This record gives sequence, C-alpha cells and structure tokens, in this order.
Amino acid sequence: MKNAQKWLLSQNSFNENSTSYDDVRLNQGKAITISVASGKGGVGKTSISLKLSKMLASTGYKVLLIDCDTNLSNTALKLGLPINNDFELLMRSVKTFDECLYKEGKFHLLSACNGSTELFETDKNHEKFLIDVLVKAENKYDYIILDSPAGIAKETLTLNAYSDHRFVVVTPDKSSITDSYSLLKILNKKYGICENHLIVNKVSNKNQYKRIVKTLSETVENFLSCRLQVLGGIEFQAGEVDLFDGILMGEAKSSLHQSFTNLLGRFTEQSVCEHLPNQVMLNGSSQKRQEVQPIC
Ligand SMILES: Nc1ncnc2c1ncn2[C@@H]1O[C@H](COP(=O)(O)OP(=O)(O)O)[C@@H](O)[C@H]1O
Ligand SMILES: [Mg+2]
Repeated sequence: MKNAQKWLLSQNSFNENSTSYDDVRLNQGKAITISVASGKGGVGKTSISLKLSKMLASTGYKVLLIDCDTNLSNTALKLGLPINNDFELLMRSVKTFDECLYKEGKFHLLSACNGSTELFETDKNHEKFLIDVLVKAENKYDYIILDSPAGIAKETLTLNAYSDHRFVVVTPDKSSITDSYSLLKILNKKYGICENHLIVNKVSNKNQYKRIVKTLSETVENFLSCRLQVLGGIEFQAGEVDLFDGILMGEAKSSLHQSFTNLLGRFTEQSVCEHLPNQVMLNGSSQKRQEVQPIC
C-alpha cells in the first residue's frame, strides 16, 4: 500500500485496523542516517541536529535523534527536559529502547547522560552499542539523525563513517575550519569517505560565507579529490546566549527558520540529483560541479 494511502487510512477512525499515526512512515525501507559532525566543539551541532530533526518530523517523517555525546549530552537540556540516566540503564538492559525515548509526535529523542560516573566506568564500547541501537531502529524510522561528538576520536569516526550522510558544521573561526578539514581528511584516508555536506554556522555576512565555502570546497576537492556539497549558511544570532534556543525552536516565520528550510531543501535536491540515472562521468568523477551557494 502506498504511504499516503496508509496515512489517510490511519486518520480514519472507522477503520479498525488502522495504523497509529505515530507508526506511519513516509519512506519505505531503511531509514536515512545523517551524522551532524564537526572537528571542533561549540559550532552548533546539537542546535542544528535538533532543529533539523523537528522540522523533518513536522513535515510528516518519523525521526529519531540520537545524542551520541554519550556522557556530555545536551539535547535534553536544549529542550528544557531533565537530564536522566536512561542511556546507562539502556546499556545495562535495565530499560528498553522504547522506555528511554522522549516522544513528541513523530520526533523521538534518545538522549544520553551528562557526567554519569556509572557510564564513565562501564567497560562497554559506547559507539558499538550506538551502532547496534541504530541497526535495530533503522526499519522503524524515516530519518535517524546522529548528534555526533566533535573531533577525530576513533569512536566518533566510526559513527560518521557508518552514516549515509555527514553534515559537517563549521563556523568562521579558523580553527573550526582547520579541524573540520582534518576530520574530512581522516574520514577519507582511513574510511574511504568522499562525499560530505557542508553547513556554515554563525555567519556574519555573505562575503564571509562565500570565502569559507570557496576555501573549504577547493581544498577538499584539490587535496582530497572529494566532494563537499554545500547546504548553506546560518546567520549568527547576536544577543544573549541563553535566548538562542528559544529563537531556534520558536517562530516559523523567523529568518533563522528560513535558513533551515533552505538547508533541507538543498539536501533533498542534492539527494535526488545523486540518484539521477544520466549523470555524465568523465575521468571517473561526476560532472555535477559544486557551486558556491547563496547564504540563505
Ligand atoms: N547561529 C547561531 N548564532 C548564535 N549562537 C549560536 C548559533 N548556533 C549555535 N549557537 C550557540 O553556540 C553554542 C554551541 O552550540 P551547540 O549547538 O551546543 O554546539 P555543539 O553541539 O557543536 O557543541 C550554544 O550556546 C548555542 O546556543
Ligand atoms: Mg553538542
């Protein structure tokens, strides 16, 4: 049965065998996994993961967001939820996956711990456990978004390499750009990853954005022979730091929200293009050239 039909039927209260709205998925088969990654911390990964997950869920997709920063988890905090030890209890099989989820319609969150001494002392490998969770959840969701820890630790790289797509987040700060280039380099050299997406966060103006995109795209192309698909920029929101989460999650009419709508639009376009049958291939590389995208 087509998804739209399935969804329509699920809305019909007279249909006794209806699927609950929560169970309906728009995509068939395996979930699309996206890892939101960066070389440097504090660039906006958690904010971006949350916003994109919620937007996809409000469009009708069933979305699971996994906070992979297992013992410095921030996603629950940003949603105004209490931090708990559910992730550690899940690892010890005291709680089930479903019992550990926070659910808001089609948006599901598996948050993690923050400063749990029990989790710190556990011998179990966190990223292997996370990949197990992912594999088990893949046929239940349309999208699985991984809020990845920053850096180039092996565990982080494994999660990034496992994902179908990587959204690499940089800010105009030179060290953020350098660290993300290193992340892309190691992903390429050690894991054979050649395709990544770029998001520039905390942008002050169009020229700054264009400069960053040009520098990073050209370096990645010339030195790694990889492709960096540009998703766009997100403007720096001046003002009190603690107000940012409210602006991010609030108002659908804000320019910040519009930037995210544009990002998702470009991702969808790029994913569709990737699957077009007649891409011209010369010297083994795709001729779909990267353009410097407008800021929003
Ligand atoms: N576009 C932006 N403008 C202003 N502040 C931002 C922006 N994006 C993120 N921030 C702020 O930057 C800080 C780090 O963001 P966070 O999402 O936690 O990054 P990460 O997960 O990469 O460490 C937070 O205080 C957040 O509110
Ligand atoms: Mg974070």
